[in-house]
Order: sequence, then C-alpha cells, then structure tokens
Amino acid sequence: MKLDRNHAWLERARRVVPGCAQTFSKGPLNFVAGATPAFLGRGQGARVWDVDGNEYVDYLLGLGPVILGYADTEVNRAAAAQMEAGVSFSLSHPVEVELSELLVSLIPCAEMVRFGKNGSDATAGAVRLSRAVTGRDKVARCGYHGWQDWYIGSTDRWQGVPEAVRALTLSFPYNDPEALDRLFAAHPGAIACVILEPVTFDPPRAGYLEAVRELCHANGALLIFDEVITGFRFGLGGAQTYFGVTPDLACFGKALANGFPLSAIVGKAEFMRRFEDVFFSFTFGGETVSLAAALATIRALRDRGGVASIWDAGERLRRGTQTLIEETGLAGTIECAGYPPWTTLRCPNALPEQALLLRSLFQQECAARGVLTIGAHMISVAHGAGEIDWTLAAYREVFRILAEAQASGAPERWLRGSPMRTILRP
Ligand SMILES: Cc1ncc(COP(=O)(O)O)c(C=O)c1O
Repeated sequence: MKLDRNHAWLERARRVVPGCAQTFSKGPLNFVAGATPAFLGRGQGARVWDVDGNEYVDYLLGLGPVILGYADTEVNRAAAAQMEAGVSFSLSHPVEVELSELLVSLIPCAEMVRFGKNGSDATAGAVRLSRAVTGRDKVARCGYHGWQDWYIGSTDRWQGVPEAVRALTLSFPYNDPEALDRLFAAHPGAIACVILEPVTFDPPRAGYLEAVRELCHANGALLIFDEVITGFRFGLGGAQTYFGVTPDLACFGKALANGFPLSAIVGKAEFMRRFEDVFFSFTFGGETVSLAAALATIRALRDRGGVASIWDAGERLRRGTQTLIEETGLAGTIECAGYPPWTTLRCPNALPEQALLLRSLFQQECAARGVLTIGAHMISVAHGAGEIDWTLAAYREVFRILAEAQASGAPERWLRGSPMRTILRP
C-alpha cells in the first residue's frame, strides 16, 4: 500500500497543526502512524479514499455522523437547495421549527428542542440547564461527554481546567445502581443532574436504567441521557425508545445531520422553558444548511428503513466476526462486544498496553486490506452485504496474523509504525 502523500501531508501538518488533527480521535494517537492512512480525500456510501487513492470500507464514519453514508444524494440536494437560499440569517428560519417538530414526534422525552453545533454544546447546555433548574452545582456523570470544562476536568485530560470546576463533577460506574445511590448519599442535596450514555458496549442490567431514573427523582436531580452516539443509531427515538426509559433531557449530535455539524438538546417542556433565561445562545445555532440536512437525514432514515438496515448489517458483521475469532483460536483473547449498530473488538483478559498493541496490529493489517477501523464498527445504511463480506474476508486473514503475532510473544515486532496510544482515561 502506497502512503507517500499521506506521509507528506502529515509532515506538513506537524509544522502547523498541534496534534496534526482537529480531533484527538482522528490524529496519530489513534492510528498506527506510518503504517495507516492519515488523510482522506473523498467518500461515497460506506467507502472512503485516502489522499494516495487507496480505498477502504469505513467503520469510523467521521466519528459517527455519516449514518446514511458519505455524499448521500438526498441530503446533499437538501443542503445545496438551502445553501442557495442562504446559510445564516438575521432572524429565525422556519426550518428550525420544522426540525424541532420532527424531533418532538420521534423522541419520547422531547417536548421542546434547542440546537447546537457539537455534541459538547448539547451536553454543556443540558448540564447548565439542570443547575439552573435545581439551584445545585454538582454533576454525576458516566461515559464520555465532550470537551467542555465541566466534563473533561473529571478525566485524566484535565489540563487547563480550574480545580474549583473539577471538584464539581463526580463519576460513577455503569450498571451499578448502588454506587450511584452512595454518590447521592455522600453529596446530599448537591447533585443537579445525572448524565450518562444510556448504553455503550455492555448491555444495561435488567432494571438498571429505571433504577437510575428513580434515584435521580428521589434525590431531586434531573436525568440526562447523552444520546450523542446512540441517537438515530439505536432507533429514530434513540436508546430511550429502545430501552423504554424516558429521561428528563437528552442530548443528540453526530448522526443527526449525516455529517453536517448539528446537535440538539431535547426534553420536557417544564425544564426546557428555562432556556428562556438560561444562556444557551450563539451565532450559528440556527445555521440553516445543517438543519435542512438533518430534516433530509431523518426523513431518509425513516423512509428507507435505515435503522433496520443498520441493525441487519451490524448483526451480520458481529456474528461473522465472532465466528472468525473462534475459528482462528482467538476466543478468550478477543471478543466482539456491543449492539449491532456499534460494536467493538476488545481484549477482555489483557493489560491495557497489550490490548493497545493488538488493536494497533489489527488496525494496521485491516488498513492494508482496505478496511478503515480503530477496532470498533460504526455501521451506516450504506454498509450492505457486499461491504460486510469484504470486511469479513479481510478479518479472516487479519485474525490469523494476530494469532501468530500473539503466539510469538512479541506482537510489537509485527508493527510497521508506532502503536496507538490512549487518548483519554475517563
Ligand atoms: C457520548 C458522547 N457525548 C458527547 C460527545 C461530544 O460530542 P462532540 O465531539 O461533537 O462535541 C461525544 C463525542 O464523541 C460522545 O461520544
């Protein structure tokens, strides 16, 4: 695989772009630098082409947004029509209301809606709203929620966040209602909200999400579901529809507009109305091209049976991957976890450094066979049986290499670039 132009762009980026990318997850930390592509030039459907012209089936989807596939004709047409009419206006535009109405019709907790650009806008806005509603300062969180101070200060990437802010965010583990109960008991009357990703790769235990909701309400806190990833992927109504648990507020982003920058806070009117006073207000909140793209995206998902097709393709990949893991003798070393729309390979019994090495080798060998992945799979509507079978054919070879590397006792020697590194320990 020729990567000359990729390397040249990376060299140029090193001089002018700190971290070489706009998002940690797209930069050299998350890839086997030297042995995998660094710059993409084009995408169509489920496929992308790097700047050297190498083609890949893509399982990153722009970190999740590209739910219909790249360059979707209907979405692009809607966006282009809106662009012709104007992008950002001096007053509100009807498309804001239309999209709000559509979200209210689909998402159980949504009675009112406000828009942002990044998922972080939505989570930060929901946290601020909860603090205003309850008059409390502390926040309990579980999962990843973006780059803003209130969240990132509670991780090991806290540099630059004041200690006073860091002290206000408390973490709790998933699937352990007693731990959340203890947190409420340790901070009586102080926690404004609980914000969590309703699911990542491990299923919620029976009754867990219901217990979280009960604990919140018994303690006077709001429950926020961070559906930035699960939104439109688990269902048009998000994970809250899938699991039948309705939060007070929810945050959406990523897949909302098939790659156009848009996020949303939705929730019960009694709380959302507080945005009449709470400051959630910025220049591009009503930018119309992304709003028009979101309308087209959601309608296309609905009219094409998009969610069902994502689940079908994801299940075909999940099952096929698990079978190959067993056939190549890697059961116990690697497993394919998660729900069909979003799965990951993980090493349940390895130390973090060993797991990262295997993941790096996996990524390197996949890239060489036309599959772009960091070891996880985001599925789009454009991932058909052809893409999945192509991927599984690559995995058959890649898992054999992994088994051999593992047996050699020195998998690092099989790497042709520097291994991936941990971006964040939440
Ligand atoms: C669950 C979750 N919440 C919030 C965010 C933050 O979204 P953004 O990066 O668009 O600000 C992300 C981003 O990956 C996410 O996965």
